[in-house]
Amino acid sequence: MEDYDFSESSQNRLLIKNGKIVNEDDVIDEDIYIEDGIIKQIGNNLIIPGGTRVIDARGRYILPGGIDPHTHFDFEFMGTKSSDSFYSGTKAAIAGGTTMIIDFVFPKEDESLLDAFYEYRQKADGKVCCDYSLHVILPRWSEQIKRDMEILVKEHGVNSFKVFMAYGFMLNDAELYSAFEQCQNLGALAQVHAENGSIIAKNAERLLAQGITGPEGHEMSRPEEVEAEAVNRACVIAKQVNCPLYVVHVMSKSAARAVDFHRSDARVYGETLVAALGTDGTHYKHECFHHSAGHVLSPPLRPDPSTPLVLMNCLAQDVLQLTGSDNCTFNKAQKELGKNDFTKIPNGVNGVEDRMSVIWEKGVQTGIISPCRFVAVTSTNAAKIFNLYPRKGCIAVGSDADIVIWNGNATRTISAETHHQAVDFNIFEGMTCHGVPEYVIVNGRVCLDDGQLRVVEGHGHFVETPVFAPYVYNPEELDKIKPSRYDDDEYLEITPKVLKIKLL
Ligand code: URP
Ligand code: ZN
Ligand code: ZN
Ligand code: ZN
Repeated sequence: MEDYDFSESSQNRLLIKNGKIVNEDDVIDEDIYIEDGIIKQIGNNLIIPGGTRVIDARGRYILPGGIDPHTHFDFEFMGTKSSDSFYSGTKAAIAGGTTMIIDFVFPKEDESLLDAFYEYRQKADGKVCCDYSLHVILPRWSEQIKRDMEILVKEHGVNSFKVFMAYGFMLNDAELYSAFEQCQNLGALAQVHAENGSIIAKNAERLLAQGITGPEGHEMSRPEEVEAEAVNRACVIAKQVNCPLYVVHVMSKSAARAVDFHRSDARVYGETLVAALGTDGTHYKHECFHHSAGHVLSPPLRPDPSTPLVLMNCLAQDVLQLTGSDNCTFNKAQKELGKNDFTKIPNGVNGVEDRMSVIWEKGVQTGIISPCRFVAVTSTNAAKIFNLYPRKGCIAVGSDADIVIWNGNATRTISAETHHQAVDFNIFEGMTCHGVPEYVIVNGRVCLDDGQLRVVEGHGHFVETPVFAPYVYNPEELDKIKPSRYDDDEYLEITPKVLKIKLL
């Protein structure tokens, strides 16, 4: 374990000088003073106490730490358990510039939502190296589930519930309706895994009968129209009960189009994955089982190679609002559970560590999104949607000191040989990315220090997410809570604008 002694008082006080602070709505050349985990001052010529550690960030961007709204650590799924734990997963997150994750509580058959929630808290508390929150999956529908949702919201800081339209625990349309209705009553956010499970089951049966048993059958059984149909249906159902809807892992052009269509008259938010932006479904044709099975997740990567570029453009145009990793890693030996039957390949890929660099490379380096939009889609929008803003998702006085000092010119080449994740495969193997985190500050502590990883197991805390997020339920309210970049006495009005800044 890479433990680190933080007892020196200088670790509690930190000055970051000479960097370019990038928020979602502006870029400023100012210094940041941090004390006891909180950003205390932003400005020039700051007066700070002696003994403060100084980091010179000249020529670097200073970004809000990444927030990955979609991970599965210590996850029992498809007859096995994901190889990344809350420790290895959050350690890898920090190595890549992510300072908060939101994981999913997955209740086992017959387990109550509350028991599953307590179990996840027990699994994660004491292990997480950065802060985390929890979404809760509704694996079935009942009056008990409905009551437990209320308890989770009122007593345990949960504000989002995921439902499935595929897999053995999918809900039917009437159940989706009731689940969305309860989310709306509580001021929570409904999240949906949108794929038509009935069509997938029939397709899989047909393909297996035809002798198509390899990983290519995975994508063939769940083509993109099967995803798009479910996105459309989920949006229509949510609209009936006026429930805000968050579509997790939008993986195809058609699904993004469906999100776009419904955003004109409904509160619909779309998340895409770094996997979908950084690679594609041509890998399912690879002759090596480990290689093709290593790319299996649901919804699958799409064989249409223009998909990643289109999805990046959707992020640029606010058709999609944010990016997750859906990090759900399985080793090669675990993927072999589906050696003779693609329906048994454990679903999931890596991404929590590489999300920031891959999106910088494919989005900012190519000029499709600005550094400000990068911050929005990797951090700020997640903070707003899950009601963590402005504590998280921005660099402002009073916010948690979750900060990344980012070198936009440096490059690194991704490999399973060198990554920090507990898995023996990486879907981005060999990709060289511009955009390298040099310092990652988690709650005021330097956990990546000039490239040296110094995480602390248990340093993170569970962060409650209150319901009725202003961004979702009352956007006008959000304008009022917009944080100041400055101390009260030097307050300046900042009008949001799209800034086209040059790369350093
Ligand atoms: O294949 C995936 N996405 N695995 C994780 C479970 C889920 O649906 O998010
Ligand atoms: Zn899912
Ligand atoms: Zn291989
Ligand atoms: Zn997932």
